[in-house]
Amino acid sequence: MVPSRVILVTGGTRGIGRAIARRLASPEAVLAVTHANPDSPGLDGLAAELSPLCAALEVQNWSAEDSGAASGAIADLVARHGRLDVLVNNAGVTRDALAVRMSDEDFAKVIAVNLAGAFNCARAAARFMMRQRSGRIICLSSVVAFTGNPGQANYCASKAGLVAMTKSLALELAPRGVTVNAVAPGFIETDMTGALDDKARAALLGRIPLGSVGRPEDVAEAVAYLASGGAAYVTGQTIHVNGGLYM
Ligand SMILES: NC(=O)c1ccc[n+]([C@@H]2O[C@H](COP(=O)([O-])OP(=O)(O)OC[C@H]3O[C@@H](n4cnc5c(N)ncnc54)[C@H](O)[C@@H]3O)[C@@H](O)[C@H]2O)c1
Repeated sequence: MVPSRVILVTGGTRGIGRAIARRLASPEAVLAVTHANPDSPGLDGLAAELSPLCAALEVQNWSAEDSGAASGAIADLVARHGRLDVLVNNAGVTRDALAVRMSDEDFAKVIAVNLAGAFNCARAAARFMMRQRSGRIICLSSVVAFTGNPGQANYCASKAGLVAMTKSLALELAPRGVTVNAVAPGFIETDMTGALDDKARAALLGRIPLGSVGRPEDVAEAVAYLASGGAAYVTGQTIHVNGGLYM
């Protein structure tokens, strides 16, 4: 039986991606979530949490930066379920260092996962969505794509690149009924931001007009809107979810 909705969330095993997967899950949907680390702590309790919420759950282990793996896995998903409705490009990494100390490897790795990885998945998904004449591609950018951030030249470049890539894909895919949008979270409580020390955290909180750190669920709501029927006429946009940190 062809399910009514097939959804793929990269890096959907923990943090923001997991909240997105939970929010998009529905009894009619096949939900595939990917991760890049077989020992990921994000796998704990994942199936127990998400399986009851959807028609079928797939947890897949492949890296978005590997274009062959991305196109193979996405083609296989479509072959088995007959369609692909939503791709959420959420997988992301950081390798922070001041630019003068940043290694070639750390610069390249962040671009490879966050930007090229999202492109690999979007290109593979677009091939099917164009034929299907429907689909939603949603990319996780970041507030720092707009503000910059010391120590994150690689990460900011990758996330700013995603915004421009989103607009270009939106233009290319609009004639086929496929929308492409981005969500730019501010400071969200996850493993990625848990590494901040108390001083850095307090300084950041002082700059957030709404006075608190965001929750992964706050980001998931914006993604769910972009994936919904209500957002059919929205494409090439970035929704900011940042407590007013950047306007
Ligand atoms: N946490 C924040 O405050 C914040 C703010 C702005 C943007 N973001 C973005 O939101 C997204 C999710 O962030 P998070 O804080 O939940 O991160 P996280 O580190 O908690 O989770 C990242 C996920 O990506 C997966 N992943 C890492 N490398 C991968 C690869 N090569 N291929 C496939 N999957 C891979 C991991 O397995 C994990 O499931 C990221 O793109 C991040 O840049 C986060």
